[in-house]
Amino acid sequence: MTVHDKHFSPLVVGLGGTTRATSTSERTLVKALEAAERAGARTRLFSGAFLARLPIYDPATAADSAELTELLEAVRIADGVLIATPGYHGSVSGLIKNALDGLEGLRADVRPYFEGRAVGCIVTADGWQACGTTLAALRTIVHALRGWPTPLGVTFNPSAGVLYDQDGGFSEERDARQIDMLAQQVVDFARMRAAVA
Ligand SMILES: Cc1cc2nc3c(=O)[nH]c(=O)nc-3n(C[C@H](O)[C@H](O)[C@H](O)COP(=O)(O)O)c2cc1C
Repeated sequence: MTVHDKHFSPLVVGLGGTTRATSTSERTLVKALEAAERAGARTRLFSGAFLARLPIYDPATAADSAELTELLEAVRIADGVLIATPGYHGSVSGLIKNALDGLEGLRADVRPYFEGRAVGCIVTADGWQACGTTLAALRTIVHALRGWPTPLGVTFNPSAGVLYDQDGGFSEERDARQIDMLAQQVVDFARMRAAVA
């Protein structure tokens, strides 16, 4: 099978979440990765617990971190990316920003940072204002990292209703549809890029 095959299975790397056991951003990221798999992708998750093991980014010592090296190697070979962050004080959480800072290790790559890859952005926050400001901030960071934010960005406000039902699915069909669409856009872009490579 070649990348020109319509059955080409892109690798979608997801990073996000928090260290909370009931992290809504992480749960939503997992849902998005599952949706990417249904769309034909292979996936890899870097959870909040993993990202919490990254040292605070320091250019002088970044290469010493086995966890950061693992993250860099995964993003380097990714065909698409999904990022999920909570809104913290109106913006991206420090945990997620630190992981994104660590991607500075990809600056000298032939394909730096997120270049040539679609990036689906997910935000959960307890207020609509932070949903909007955090999504805008995350998409700006993705632009700086030369990624292509998908047309759809997804924001959820769990305080405005019940996001998940007792079985772990989305309570509202429209929320599930948004995540499916986001994942599909990441996978479609990867296939389009592969077709013209
Ligand atoms: C330090 C901190 C700052 C937060 N700041 C905001 C905020 O500015 N606006 C907002 O709507 N929610 C804010 N929240 C609420 C979180 O965005 C919300 O609970 C989110 O869903 C948490 O993500 P998680 O479930 O993945 O841990 C904050 C929460 C924390 C812990």
